[in-house]
Parts: sequence; structure tokens; C-alpha cells
Amino acid sequence: MFKMLHSGWAYITLIIVIFAVVNAIMGLTSKREFKDSKDLRISLFALIVSHIQLIIGLIAYFVSAQFAFVLDNGMGAAMKEPDIRLFVIEHPLMMILAITIITIGFSKHKKQTTDSGKFKTIALYYGVALIFMLSRIPWSQWLSF
Ligand code: HEM
Repeated sequence: MFKMLHSGWAYITLIIVIFAVVNAIMGLTSKREFKDSKDLRISLFALIVSHIQLIIGLIAYFVSAQFAFVLDNGMGAAMKEPDIRLFVIEHPLMMILAITIITIGFSKHKKQTTDSGKFKTIALYYGVALIFMLSRIPWSQWLSF
């Protein structure tokens, strides 16, 4: 159940993070005002949605077949299997890093005093986090259903 939830929530997470990045880039290039009622809400929504994905991911991790493999065969054996290594180390680490960067970006953008500074901070931090996320999504497994 958690695997399904994690898989479905990933669509929402990616869509809202992409939306937040595009909105920040557009705000920056059009030099418009940063509105808390719209722009802060979009970045806050992306923060909340990705934190929920982190919690679901952590639960999915401990009930996954890949984690059971580690318990049965040890970390050394898991590292030798690329498919298992992806889910045991690479995917979780990269995603935790991405969500940490989003969290730092959100808190830093609030300290910015100019509209462009706020947009720039969101575009940069959320953009880097998005690249990290996209780099370690198990695309073939996810989209094969
Ligand atoms: C923004 C963050 C994240 C995104 C977008 C994401 C996305 C995904 C996607 C698309 C899948 C494939 C699902 C499928 O095969 O249908 C997956 C699998 C998985 N993810 Fe994440 N994930 C994130 C964070 C995490 C975190 C933080 C952890 C663990 C600490 C985690 C653990 C796992 C595990 C264990 C699987 C494999 C489940 C299985 O095959 O049994 N994920 N994730």
C-alpha cells in the first residue's frame, strides 16, 4: 500500500516542484512583484508535498523488498546489485538531499528583501532539487506499471 501511495504521490510532488520552479523563473524574468498570496503559497505547497513524500518514502523503505534483502544478505551483497543499491542507497539519499535543499531554499527566500531575490532563491534551490530528484527516479520501474 505504501509503495502505491509513494508511487502516486511522486506525480503530485514532481508536478508541484516543476510548477514552483517555472513560476519562479517566470517571475524573475518578467520582473514582477513577489506575491505572498500566490508565489509564497506555491513554494510552500511544494515544500509540504515533498515533505509528505519523504515520510511516505521512509515508510515504504522499511517495508520494501530491497530493505528485506539487506536484512537477509547484508549491505555488502546489496551494494553489488545495481537494482537493489538504487533503492537502498542512491534513491533515498538523493531524495533526502533534494528535500533538504528545498527546505533550505524556502527558508532562505523568506529572508530576501527584494522580489527578484525571492524568485532567484526559489528558482535556484528548487531547480537544483528538481534535477536531483529527476536523476534518481526509477523511471523504467515507475512508468512500466
Ligand atoms: C521527492 C522525493 C521522492 C520521489 C519523487 C520519489 C519517487 C519514487 C518513485 C517514482 C518510485 C517508483 C515507484 C514505483 O515503482 O511505482 C519510488 C520508489 C521507492 N522509493 Fe521513492 N521517492 C522520493 C523519496 C523517497 C525517500 C526519501 C525514500 C526513503 C527514505 C524513498 C524510498 C523508496 C523506495 C524504498 C522505493 C521502492 C519501493 C519498492 O519497489 O518496493 N523514496 N520513489
